[in-house]
Amino acid sequence: MIYMDNAATSFPKPEAVYRAIDHFNRNLGGSPGRGSHQSTLRAGAILLECRELLARLFNIGDAAQIAFTANITEAINIGLKGVLKPGDHIITSSMEHNAVARPLHALTRQGIEWTRIPCGPDGSLDPADIEPGIKANTRMICMLHASNLTGTILPIAEVGRIAARHGLIFMVDSAQTAGVLPIDVEQYHIDILTFTGHKSLLGPQGTGGIYVDPRIELGLLKEGGTGSSSELLDQPVTMPDRLESGTPNTPGIAGLAAGVNFILKTGLEVIRRHERELTDILIRELSRIPGLSIYGPLDSRRQTAIVSFNIDGIDCGEVSLRLDQDYGIITRSGMHCAPLAHQTIGTFERGACRISPGFFNTIDEVEKVIEAVWHMART
Ligand code: ALA
Repeated sequence: MIYMDNAATSFPKPEAVYRAIDHFNRNLGGSPGRGSHQSTLRAGAILLECRELLARLFNIGDAAQIAFTANITEAINIGLKGVLKPGDHIITSSMEHNAVARPLHALTRQGIEWTRIPCGPDGSLDPADIEPGIKANTRMICMLHASNLTGTILPIAEVGRIAARHGLIFMVDSAQTAGVLPIDVEQYHIDILTFTGHKSLLGPQGTGGIYVDPRIELGLLKEGGTGSSSELLDQPVTMPDRLESGTPNTPGIAGLAAGVNFILKTGLEVIRRHERELTDILIRELSRIPGLSIYGPLDSRRQTAIVSFNIDGIDCGEVSLRLDQDYGIITRSGMHCAPLAHQTIGTFERGACRISPGFFNTIDEVEKVIEAVWHMART
């Protein structure tokens, strides 16, 4: 099998990730923060270590401001619904994933106003288009760092500066970039950073989280046991307990810590360089195939390792099916949970087939993918 669906979930993981999950489940156990015996303390130390590694990666001053969630969708819901109140206005790009679009669509029914700033047909956003969208009731700008459809990188540094200048909360969906592009919450003026553990952070599914600037007090989606201040019926005000009710996914977080450790040791530049090399080859060679349309910036400096395309006369679902069945190549076709992005780039009716290599893919594998697409476009 040649796995090229890393934008959905990365595979394989570093060996250390498998080992960490297995070690926790087999040898450690324990529910973090519940009681004071050695198992709970060891489990608590894993959460602490993972928070500290993430804080290093994202330049977060206080690791306790990071709360773990089941996935980035939960984190985004916490951020949006914890901030926005009826009468508030929010600005996003037109490339947002349903993880942002669906909660916001639901919130509009409760009196929240939502403006989507149109991106270009390659998914790119001109930061100059943001300021004219700001109104007296604008409370927040929320934006993905890169599109899961085209890989297009959005100018979050510039948008963060605009948000800071206007005193707006800036929230970033880093699903496609955490672990591959630099993210610095201070430098980019990010007030709320949401991340997933199972894509480029190389951890297992069922992990993700949210960083919240200490100046922001979020409304709560969930209350419950935290192992702290248990004599009170009020939810604790201190982070991370405020946002972490119920037993966390400690084995998953052990794996996530190993994934982030791998990234810090390998270096973001090394990871990015390799992924760019694979993307360059894909863009260059697929562009030569007659009858094939490729979407996005077509420039690896401006996108992540995603190449989405269509072949004239073949449904994108069939392209993925045949790549899988005839060539053992794993891709994802359809809407990619991103109908707004498909509308923006003009593929809403058709969908697209997406190839997304990861750090563990090789040039040889990418060449096999190109050969298979050539063959399919000819037959
Ligand atoms: N959002 C993920 C994807 O693009 C699941 O495939």
